[in-house]
Amino acid sequence: MSIPVTLSYQDAAGNMHLAPGVSAGTPGFLDIIDQTLLPCEQKRLKLETPEAVYEAIKQLRVRGAPAIGCSAAIGLAVCAQRFGSASPDEHLLKIRECAAFLDSSRPTAVNLSWALKRCVGAVKGDSIQLMNQQLLDEALAITAEDIRLCAAIGKAGAALLKPGMGVLTHCNAGALATAGIGTALAPIYAAMEQGIQVKVFSDETRPLLQGARLTAWELAVSGVDVTTICDSMASQVMREGKVGVVIVGADRVAANGDTANKIGTYQLAIAAKYHKVPFYVALPFSTIDRSIPDGAAIPIEQRSAEEIFHCDGAKVYNPAFDVTPRELITGFITERGILTEI
Ligand code: MRU
Repeated sequence: MSIPVTLSYQDAAGNMHLAPGVSAGTPGFLDIIDQTLLPCEQKRLKLETPEAVYEAIKQLRVRGAPAIGCSAAIGLAVCAQRFGSASPDEHLLKIRECAAFLDSSRPTAVNLSWALKRCVGAVKGDSIQLMNQQLLDEALAITAEDIRLCAAIGKAGAALLKPGMGVLTHCNAGALATAGIGTALAPIYAAMEQGIQVKVFSDETRPLLQGARLTAWELAVSGVDVTTICDSMASQVMREGKVGVVIVGADRVAANGDTANKIGTYQLAIAAKYHKVPFYVALPFSTIDRSIPDGAAIPIEQRSAEEIFHCDGAKVYNPAFDVTPRELITGFITERGILTEI
């Protein structure tokens, strides 16, 4: 069994496309697997309106920095196919408005605005038909690129892994978070291809359980040895000597290397430092935001109180991400190799 395709462009005939080479002539769909239902149910959604794409990103039906970028890009392309604009000028205005709307769905992962900016920038045609084709080509180029980048990250990171090694990860930075084989999980898949099996500890990742529901599931169905632990157990598992390396993903990396990732990553990095366990961040270069000097300026998404169990009368604080200072990070696993400077 293998994990399903996280996202794709689906043409009017229902064929999936992950790379350029399809006509934007007849309106297609953004096709995603609804991750809020995993692992119990594998339901695919076909999205075609700005509101539906926005809702899917906001509610984490599709999630993970690269997957959000690819989905927003394909989402913009399929929405534009339905605008019914009277002129190319009006069409461009609607494309820009739709991109700004989708960009406002989640603030922390920079891949969202990066991908949307790239798509809007690709629109240079003087006919509506050409503009739609340029949007779709760019969205599918971003998606195809993501698949290649994940593979390169996997190849680079696999060099860190040895048979039987304990690898601890947080949240889901796997195939479900990208168009390819993931970022943090890519080295694990690449090592497996080379016959190297590791033992993964997957933090459950409170409050939305991306680790317990998504990482554990995609690794298990791929034949990887995976153990789910509560977030609060990570230090103890390190103390027991079961973790050889920590690998996590990233939502936005500031120019100085400070890294925003799922809430709980920072405390994991502190624990890793204390136990002298190497701590790596895996990411494509598109996750680096050089306009932001350090982590203090990274916008952190605050999510609803409803996501956290609480009694009547108790307040809730629910930041979805935290920032790990550069000094706690051993290195960055990227498509350009393992780097200490980015
Ligand atoms: O809120 P989520 O599930 O979108 O958060 C995802 C993460 O924090 C991932 O680790 C990050 O986006 C990297 S995905 C390759």
